[in-house]
Amino acid sequence: MPWDPHQYLRFADHRLRPGLELMARIPEISPRSIVDLGCGTGSLTHLLAHRFPDANVVGLDNSQDMLDQTESDSIEWRCENIGAWHPESQMDLIYSNAALHWLVDHDQLFPRLLESLSPGGVLAVQMPNNWREPTHTIPAAILAQPDWTDEVRHILPRDRVQSPVHYQRWLAAADATDLWETTYYQLLPSADRHPVLEWVKGSLLRPVLALLDEDPQALDRFLRACEHEYERAYPRESDGSVVLPFRRLFIVAMKLNG
Ligand SMILES: C[S@@+](CC[C@H](N)C(=O)[O-])C[C@H]1O[C@@H](n2cnc3c(N)ncnc32)[C@H](O)[C@@H]1O
Repeated sequence: MPWDPHQYLRFADHRLRPGLELMARIPEISPRSIVDLGCGTGSLTHLLAHRFPDANVVGLDNSQDMLDQTESDSIEWRCENIGAWHPESQMDLIYSNAALHWLVDHDQLFPRLLESLSPGGVLAVQMPNNWREPTHTIPAAILAQPDWTDEVRHILPRDRVQSPVHYQRWLAAADATDLWETTYYQLLPSADRHPVLEWVKGSLLRPVLALLDEDPQALDRFLRACEHEYERAYPRESDGSVVLPFRRLFIVAMKLNG
């Protein structure tokens, strides 16, 4: 059966859709070795294995909880930190969807990933790029206020994803690069609290929630302050839903020579 991402897209959600759109831009190569960095529960790893049935496929993630949800005896699942990952031999395809924004020092990470490719190899990456949007600047501004402890003030991840121009430079050794951004207008349904607050509670705010878990009063103060600002930045529709613009950066780089 030929690869048909549009068929998969019919069933895709906000999280999977960019991963499929990234996969669709991988050129027609015949990789023997593939790694999916930050594979999570492995949905996209399965699709990579399906598209490239002759390849040895590794799914790598540092969360055993995520890896415990994976299925397949034909894929090798490894619990490892991407930051410390150095393949034993060069890879034909390095794929990563919505994971590398959790890592620091992209100026070193991206050239290193490029070096890990075999001749003809492809690096394909997608990362959310919303660090300067109200979703991120609002909690950062609230936590920057002096009444929080130093630990709380520094708990949010700092701006890690840079402009596409930086990635173009860091991947200058590639023979071909393809970089683009897409903004998805995600309809978030009405919820008890502001829908954007519910959205970021599942991702960006997770470290804050964990840290303030023992201090319900402080947590409540923080969430109320965020919610107040989100109401202004992302007004609700008449049914309580909110349209959240969500920008993602896509990078495909190919190395022709060793
Ligand atoms: C948003 S999920 C994406 C999962 C999958 N790629 C997908 O698109 O469905 C991010 C994943 O990156 C993993 N991750 C984050 N930092 C990591 C690191 N330093 N090393 C390995 N995995 C990491 C997390 O455990 C999580 O499973």
